[in-house]
Order: sequence, then structure tokens, then C-alpha cells
Amino acid sequence: MIIYAFRSELKSIMSYTDMQNICLSSARNNRKWNVTGYMVECGGVFLQALEGPEDAVTSIFRRVVNDPRHHHVDLLLSNDGVARRQFGAWAMNLMFLDDPLLWRRVVGSLSPYDDFLHRSQDPIFSLGLLSLAYQFACSATSVDAAATGLERGRVPRLQHMLRS
Ligand SMILES: Cc1cc2nc3c(=O)[nH]c(=O)nc-3n(C[C@H](O)[C@H](O)[C@H](O)COP(=O)(O)O)c2cc1C
Repeated sequence: MIIYAFRSELKSIMSYTDMQNICLSSARNNRKWNVTGYMVECGGVFLQALEGPEDAVTSIFRRVVNDPRHHHVDLLLSNDGVARRQFGAWAMNLMFLDDPLLWRRVVGSLSPYDDFLHRSQDPIFSLGLLSLAYQFACSATSVDAAATGLERGRVPRLQHMLRS
């Protein structure tokens, strides 16, 4: 298995509903390919993790790169030979970290996301943040965070895509 983490920026402002719809169609597609992952959005920046069979992850990533709704898609990290999924619960899910209160609950820092734009270019910061957000979402929605490989990742419900 391989894991990718990447960052991108929205080209123009998009509603929460539109982003949730992107997430839902992504999850439905990823599920077919046994790919799981997680995504956070903050100030028009997306961080996303995709993990699963190498062919599937690379071909999904190629499509994502060519999506005209965002740009500056930067692959921050690519690790192959991964034995366990880190984001196994959902085929894709999304957290909106624009809310300073949610940021504080997830990340624990008092100063909100002042430097998020800059720090999200750092692979260690970004994978760590995705991991925190994933663990938080699992516990907030009573989903088993360690669900790995027994069944395919789920398609999230609306209430799984945390906003505040
Ligand atoms: C931020 C962002 C993340 C996306 N993540 C995925 C994803 O994980 N899986 C997926 O199939 N499509 C994802 N998409 C959508 C794809 O870019 C693309 O629109 C979709 O796969 C349909 O591709 P097609 O029109 O070539 O069939 C994402 C789009 C954006 C803007």
C-alpha cells in the first residue's frame, strides 16, 4: 500500500455544500478502489491523505491534480510499502477547520490558524494535522479509528463532516 499527503488551494470561494459534495463523490469513487483517506479545509487550503493500492492512489491523484476547481496541488509526502492504514474508517471524509473553536478543540493550540497557510506546506505538520483531525472526527462520531482493512472505508454521512 501507499500513502500520499497533498495540499491544494481552491481557485475561488466555494460553499460548504459544494465541498461536502466533492467529498461524497470522492468517497464513493475511492471506495470502489479500496482507497481510504481524510481531508481538512481551512481558508481555502485543502490538505488530503489518500492511502490504498498504489495503482489506485496514483490514478486518483492524477485526476485530482487535473481538477480545475483547485490549483497548486503539491504532493507533500509519498510513502510506499505501508502495512497499515492510518485513515481506514472512511473512503474520504472532510473537516472544516475554519472555525477557531473547532481548531482549538482538534489541535489544542490557543493561537488559531494564523500561520496555517505557511505551515501546511510542511509534510510533518500536515500529516500530523490530518491525523489529529481524523482521530478527533472518529471519536466525535463514535466511529472506530482503527478500522483497518476488514472492510472498505465508509462513505461519510453529513454529520461526519465536522464544521464546528
Ligand atoms: C480538493 C479535492 C479533493 C478531491 N479528492 C478526490 C478523491 O479523493 N477521490 C476522487 O475520486 N476524486 C476526488 N476529487 C474529485 C476529482 O478531482 C474529480 O473531479 C473526480 O474524480 C471526477 O473525475 P473525472 O471527471 O475525471 O471522472 C477531489 C477534488 C478536489 C477539488
